[in-house]
Amino acid sequence: MAAFYNPVRIRFGAGALDGIGELVGTRRCIVLTSEGMQRRGDLDRLIRAIDGRVAATYPSVTPNPTVESATNAFDTIRESQPETGLIVALGGGSVIDTAKAVAAQCANAGEANWLSAHLRDGAPFAQEVAAPPILAIPTTAGTGSEVTMWGTIWDEANGRKYSVAHPSLYPEHAVLDPQLTLSVPRATTVATALDALSHAMEAIWNRAANPVSDALAVRAIGLIPAALVRALDNPDNLAVRERLLSAALVAGLAMSNTRTALAHSISYPMTSRFGVPHGIACSLTLPEILRALAETHPDRAALIAGALGVASATQGVDALYQLFRDVGMAAILTAHVSSSTALEAIEGELITPGRADNSLFPANGPAAARLLRTAYERVCG
Ligand SMILES: [Fe+2]
Repeated sequence: MAAFYNPVRIRFGAGALDGIGELVGTRRCIVLTSEGMQRRGDLDRLIRAIDGRVAATYPSVTPNPTVESATNAFDTIRESQPETGLIVALGGGSVIDTAKAVAAQCANAGEANWLSAHLRDGAPFAQEVAAPPILAIPTTAGTGSEVTMWGTIWDEANGRKYSVAHPSLYPEHAVLDPQLTLSVPRATTVATALDALSHAMEAIWNRAANPVSDALAVRAIGLIPAALVRALDNPDNLAVRERLLSAALVAGLAMSNTRTALAHSISYPMTSRFGVPHGIACSLTLPEILRALAETHPDRAALIAGALGVASATQGVDALYQLFRDVGMAAILTAHVSSSTALEAIEGELITPGRADNSLFPANGPAAARLLRTAYERVCG
């Protein structure tokens, strides 16, 4: 029997940010954001919307949060503001994921360095978890973190990737305002949109796929390729930005119930070892996985082909590689990985249990390495 559940209350539309005062109510807020949001004036706009209710601001979240950076955010906040009514996260996936790590640490604050012990050594959540609620305001169209109960935290020292995951970490509200995405730079627009496309396709070749996640994923796959190309040509077009943000949201909702699968599993060492942006790393193998899916599960591959607006999985594969050419993926990829031989260094790390095994079809390490090498050579060759 299939089941679908998501408790996040969603507000979507241009100007949504300015209306968050009523969602905050009388609660005292900790605001987490990045320096970019401060520079762009979005933080000022947020603070105006919740005037008088900001207890502390942490504007220093950096990309790809680590155990140390998330712990530092928690310690800094805890020093200036011991009581947290609501965590407001304004930013991309890194900010929202950091907010989840901070909320988890708040819920387990009795134990020093709980986050590190939890992620690195498997220390459990407290029995009675009372994480402060999160109000997530994504400023990129891609992560989906605003509607999931997990956050990605990296471990630079050990070259690993962790998830902090708990039902109490679903944001209370997600507020999606496409105006915030107008100023997203080209490279980030590409990487985040391809991340969303990956979430949608991974939701389809997934053991936990269900009629609701399928409908959401098909919608996202239908919107993203054309909207991404248009957004690159017309970055100031609000209607196109709104389409991309809505696609990223529904892809995130699909993923919130299925989790990700093989493409994300393969991507993790690409990011942790070579620094390939997440969305580029996780989308690279989508065409080759679709090709493999057509062999084992033609009905699921046909669903994706139909969503892409083509007649067959083979045409879907070609459409994806064409999209990668249109957005200039080769240049981004080769800046981090100079040749396919360099990939040999990570061939033993491509299978993350809990991700790769969500895939409908079996894929072991050597098969994943072949998919990755083929995809790299098709994109960069
Ligand atoms: Fe992702």
